[in-house]
Amino acid sequence: MLDERPEFVREMGTCLTEDERRRANNLTWERDRRRFVVTRGRLRHFLGSRLGIPPSDIELEYGPHGKPRLSRRMPAQGLHFGVSRSGDLAVIALSDAREVGVDIEEVRPVAEADDIAALCFSVAEQESYHTLPPGERPDGFMRRWTRLEAISKALGCGLGDPIPPGVRDWSLHTFIPKVGYIGTVVVQS
Ligand SMILES: CC(C)(COP(=O)(O)OP(=O)(O)OC[C@H]1O[C@@H](n2cnc3c(N)ncnc32)[C@H](O)[C@@H]1OP(=O)(O)O)[C@@H](O)C(=O)NCCC(=O)NCCS
Repeated sequence: MLDERPEFVREMGTCLTEDERRRANNLTWERDRRRFVVTRGRLRHFLGSRLGIPPSDIELEYGPHGKPRLSRRMPAQGLHFGVSRSGDLAVIALSDAREVGVDIEEVRPVAEADDIAALCFSVAEQESYHTLPPGERPDGFMRRWTRLEAISKALGCGLGDPIPPGVRDWSLHTFIPKVGYIGTVVVQS
């Protein structure tokens, strides 16, 4: 949960790097700053406790499209993680030996859902989406969307990059992190 007490947010902020603090400070809204700081602080705490080092000693590096990963200088190179935030909630997925991706979304009607489905979903997903009764469409849309995003994020793709066909057999699990939200976590088989 991201809307934490100010003392907790301050505590999480102490383990962030200068760059991460700058990134937080560049966010316009206090709520967004708070949510970023809590997510990144929690991530550093989880990774630090797995590696047995202080959260502030965790070094991250970034892929060409911004996917964060443990720096090559860190021990436990096999440790992978994925992060997703939506509203007042974040999910962090950790995996010991396999690439992992996660995406969560608040379930809400999206005005452009049909256009996005036509652009991004596979033919089979579009067909099954369009057979849903209107009341089930927001959930059905977000379910498919989080699947797509989780796979793209596991691969570290950029927005709109095609997903290579070989990755369709990754292990996929859809879950409800909180009432009103839906998420998918995907792990390399
Ligand atoms: C950049 C992107 C990953 C952000 O996703 P989002 O839903 O806005 O945000 P989320 O909260 O789910 O994820 C953000 C986290 O993902 C991670 N992330 C950022 N870029 C990433 C990338 N290219 N790959 C994987 N993870 C990434 C970071 O940990 C980030 O957390 P941070 O903001 O605390 O640093 C997303 O917009 C994107 O480019 N996805 C690629 C998939 C795609 O193209 N889908 C559309 C197909 S039509």
